[in-house]
Amino acid sequence: MKRVYLDHTATTPLDERVFEAMRPYFSEAFGNASSVHSFGREAKSALEKARETIAKAIGAQSGEVFFTSGGTESDNFAIRGIAKASLKKGKNHIITSAAEHPAVLEPCEMLREEGFDVTVLPVDANGIVSPDQVKQAITGKTCLVTIMHANNEVGSISPIKEIAEAVHEKGLPLHTDAVQTPGKIPLNVAELGVDLVTLSAHKLYGPKGIGALYVKKGTELEPMLHGGGQERGKRPGTENVPLAVGFAKAVELAVSEMEVEMKRLATIRDNLQSAISNQFPSAIINGHPTERLPNILNISFDSSKIQLEGEMLVMNMDLEGIAVTSGSACTSGSMQPSHVLLAMGRDGKTARATLRFAFGKSNTTEDVEYVVAKLRHVISRMAGRA
Ligand SMILES: Cc1ncc(COP(=O)(O)O)c(C=O)c1O
Repeated sequence: MKRVYLDHTATTPLDERVFEAMRPYFSEAFGNASSVHSFGREAKSALEKARETIAKAIGAQSGEVFFTSGGTESDNFAIRGIAKASLKKGKNHIITSAAEHPAVLEPCEMLREEGFDVTVLPVDANGIVSPDQVKQAITGKTCLVTIMHANNEVGSISPIKEIAEAVHEKGLPLHTDAVQTPGKIPLNVAELGVDLVTLSAHKLYGPKGIGALYVKKGTELEPMLHGGGQERGKRPGTENVPLAVGFAKAVELAVSEMEVEMKRLATIRDNLQSAISNQFPSAIINGHPTERLPNILNISFDSSKIQLEGEMLVMNMDLEGIAVTSGSACTSGSMQPSHVLLAMGRDGKTARATLRFAFGKSNTTEDVEYVVAKLRHVISRMAGRA
């Protein structure tokens, strides 16, 4: 059976070239980057080269890039690290948005339990927070604003540059979760004006289990882990050199191939969007019509026109060899509609009847016709059973 992977926002396969770049650091160049002998120096040199590559790709200095275990850790590190450093100055208020990834929302909730004030700003029907909303929410106690660069479910791109201006007017730092954006849209920390940026390798054909946090020079941030002095004392633990090398190679490839690849994926996305809109009158496109990542298509089926369950759609599409997600999350044994779609104003039933298609290197224009045909087949089978 033909298999079509359309879940590239969840994870991507490792690029062969990334695998080849990493290989020596699993075997012959295995040294501990903190050791002073030649084995250690060889590992250290590869680690610092990787840091330099990633820093250069986002317009940063290499001393501003800290390796972590992935996007989740980087988000936690940024939020808790700033919160802890700010408490000493009597500041205990954080601003975020309702459309953030749980890796941002959960640490904010933890801080709320620990006595912080947390403002969760609503988003508009496209999933976007306005710079004005951010400006109005800032108080004398605010220590951090954290708003994602682009949303992982619907692909909407936040006006980060304008939000950064509003935040900096008050002398505050801005953190952005950019896990979904390198290689999809330009990401330059100086141009965006951000102070902290979360990155993750496995979303861009790099290895799982490594990410980075960009921290602008001069930003006060407490470490979350305590141990040896690795990563300039900010993130101790023996450095994962092979993964760092792979991450850097993946970033390098993603940036150099972005223009051509994103044009290609946008065409596939647009073709699928038109085909679905033409063939399914109940389909609603979620996300900003233009300020949207080129590789994501998120559709809901209007519950006033047709009754469909997203998870059932996902399972039935899987039986046809097509891997998509519904955006729902299983909480306490029951399917909860996506918090992002609810925040955008979708009703619960429509939000539950959602499919997210996330395109990547393995997809071709031929996939569009195949996916639409299978979707038609699955929906008529499900509607027939209803
Ligand atoms: C926007 C966003 N932030 C954070 C994460 C978590 O990243 P990681 O899987 O590297 O921990 C993800 C992963 O899905 C994501 O999409």
